[in-house]
Amino acid sequence: MKKLNKMGKIAVLTSGGDAPGLNACIRAVVRTACYYNLEVIGIKRGYKGLIEKDFIPLSARDVAGILQKGGTILLSSREPRFHEYEYRKLAYENLKSENIEALFVIGGNGTFQAANLLAKEFDIPIIGIPKTIDNDLYGTDYTIGFDTAVNNAVEAVDKIKDTSISHERIFVVEVMGRDSGFLALEVGLATGAEITLIPEYPFPMHHIVESIISSIKKGKRFAIIILAEGVAHAKEFAETLNKHLKPYIDEDIRYTVLGYIQRGGSPTAFDRVIASKFGVFAVEHYLSGNKNFMVAYENGKLTAKPLEISFGKIKKPDLKDYQIANILSS
Ligand code: F6P
Repeated sequence: MKKLNKMGKIAVLTSGGDAPGLNACIRAVVRTACYYNLEVIGIKRGYKGLIEKDFIPLSARDVAGILQKGGTILLSSREPRFHEYEYRKLAYENLKSENIEALFVIGGNGTFQAANLLAKEFDIPIIGIPKTIDNDLYGTDYTIGFDTAVNNAVEAVDKIKDTSISHERIFVVEVMGRDSGFLALEVGLATGAEITLIPEYPFPMHHIVESIISSIKKGKRFAIIILAEGVAHAKEFAETLNKHLKPYIDEDIRYTVLGYIQRGGSPTAFDRVIASKFGVFAVEHYLSGNKNFMVAYENGKLTAKPLEISFGKIKKPDLKDYQIANILSS
C-alpha cells in the first residue's frame, strides 16, 4: 500500500461498554493513519462527543504508552440522542466542519447500527471495528476484549474454587454477557465448572438439581455453577436452588456476581495483538477504496464485511463447546 501525498483526515471514537484492548486499537488506527499520511481526530465519549464536537487531534506520540492499558483514553458512553435524526445531522455537520472524510467507530452492534444510519443519510464512510467482552456480534468470530474478560473471570473463579473445595460448598458465580452465553461458556470450560448455564441452551432446574444430587451421592460435595447473567440473577437462582437441595447439603449455597472486574484491567497479549491488527486492517482497507464496512475475524483471518451484516442476527455459541463443557464436568 502506497503512502498518500495529500493529507486526508479521519476520526475515531469508542462507544458503548468499555473493553480491554480499546486503547491498543486506538493506537493502531492512529499510528497506521499517520504512517499513510492521514490526520486523525479523536472524538471524546463516543457519539456524545460527536454531537457536542468534543474533538482532539491525535498524533502518533499521543497514543504512546497506552497499548497495555484497560479502558479507553477517548472515554465512552451510550448516547441515546444519536437515535434522533436532528442529532445525527449535527454530528455530520461537525465532521464536515473539520473536513473529516471518514469515521472509525470501535464498538458493538448498537454502535454499528447508529453509525450505519449516519453513513446512509449523509454519505460519510463509516468503518466499524468490533469490540465487546460479550463476543456476541454476528459476522465476526471475535470481538476485542473477550479474551481479557474470560481471563479476568477465570482468575476470580479459581479463587472461589479454593473455598468451594475446602468447605465443600456449592457456589453460583454470575458472569456478564448480557443476553449471550459466550463469556459464561468459555469461563465454564476454562475453570472446569460442574455446571455452566447459558441462555442459548437452556438446562431446566430439575436437571440441575438431579445432577448435583447424583454428584453428592458419588462423594463430590462441592460445585461451581457458572451462571450467565442472561439466564438469571445469581441471588434468586442460588435461593431457589438452595430450597431444592436443602436436604442434601450442610451449608447454604453461596453466590458471587463478578460484575465489572471482568471488563477492566490490562488487556491480554491476545487482545493487544488482535486489537492492533483490527486497527491496521481497518485503515488499510479504507485506503484501498472501501467505504462502509466492519472488520471481521473469521476462521483465523481478518476480512471486511458490510456494516449491516450483523443487524437483527443472533450469534450463538457452538453446541459442541456446550457439550464439551457437560462431558468434562462430571
Ligand atoms: O456489553 C458489555 C456488558 O458488560 C454486558 O456484559 C453487560 O450486560 C453490560 O455491558 C453492562 O452494561 P453497563 O455498563 O451499561 O452497566
